[in-house]
Amino acid sequence: MALDQFLTALGSMLEEARACLATVDNAESLEQLRVKYTGAKSGALKTVQKMLGSIDVKDKPAAGMRFNEVRDGIEEALGQAALRLGQAAHRPGGGSGPQSLGPVFDPTLPGLRPRIGTIHPITQTLEHLKEIMGRLGFNVTEGPEIEDQWHNFVALNIPEDHPARDPLDNFYLATAKAVSAESVTGDPPAPRLLRSQTSTVQIRVMETEPLPLRIISLGRVYRPDAPDATHFPMFHQMEGLWVDRNVTMTQLKSVLRLFATSYLGGDVSIRFRPSFFPFTEPSVEVDYWWNGQWIEFGGAGMVDPNVFQSVGIDPEIWSGFAFGLGVERLCMRRFGITDIRDLYRSDVRFLRQFAT
Ligand code: DAH
Repeated sequence: MALDQFLTALGSMLEEARACLATVDNAESLEQLRVKYTGAKSGALKTVQKMLGSIDVKDKPAAGMRFNEVRDGIEEALGQAALRLGQAAHRPGGGSGPQSLGPVFDPTLPGLRPRIGTIHPITQTLEHLKEIMGRLGFNVTEGPEIEDQWHNFVALNIPEDHPARDPLDNFYLATAKAVSAESVTGDPPAPRLLRSQTSTVQIRVMETEPLPLRIISLGRVYRPDAPDATHFPMFHQMEGLWVDRNVTMTQLKSVLRLFATSYLGGDVSIRFRPSFFPFTEPSVEVDYWWNGQWIEFGGAGMVDPNVFQSVGIDPEIWSGFAFGLGVERLCMRRFGITDIRDLYRSDVRFLRQFAT
């Protein structure tokens, strides 16, 4: 269809609609006109819109623009006619039948106060941590919450008989898919699980990203702990991983101190206590001196050569450090929250206190 023909048709339609709507004098006729022009199935606008398809591609922008103008013009004329007849303003998309007759606006009715949400303190914390670590050159990566045994344990150097793999300490998933895999291979399938730590993302990143790399990953982890003031079966961790040539423990300490100083404010002291994690060697637990006491925030260490080997990285060439911090603990310290369960009760009276 030619553009000028289309535009002429649109123009006369708008003119005709305006003329009819200016003189319409009862609700029933108005409704008929509304259907005639804006009816969803065979209204005039709908019919013209279909013709848009046969317009030459180069003319489409002009045709589309004019179509929108005409549609808005007709909507406006409908609204004015409705106002004149004392109906509630015409609602596009139907629903303005005779039952919606009534005053347009009643200023004597009480208003409805909009309920505006606030950003959850944990979400605020996650954003804040990303921002601080971003300034230290760490990129944000994500990993899945449903994991396989390879990423949650095996590649992290956690042997089969390690207590961390105990069914009582993990949310293993029994799926129909796992059962059918068994019948194909003959091997009992390794059930997947809700990840118990974000260290899984270390493996995923090293499997896919080129070296060197410097990442953090923040997200939920799951452990079947009975909820009390300091435990909850779901919580968040921030994992960090830096792999390069000649990465040292000094850098680990500096990064964690800079992080703490930015997040907690002031000059925070940091303390490393010797510890053990299967995926780091040596391993440490990290404490911050804050408000007159040492507070444990997580674990860290130098990436174990076995972990590098499991993802095909040569530990003679590459070195790295990793750390995992508890997000709830950081959030609670900063906001003065004393019971982790308060974060997940969804009580807006509590949450609203942390509105930004
Ligand atoms: N994944 C450990 C946990 O959940 C925390 C951790 C310790 C992470 C040492 C690390 C690390 O990256 O190097 O308890």
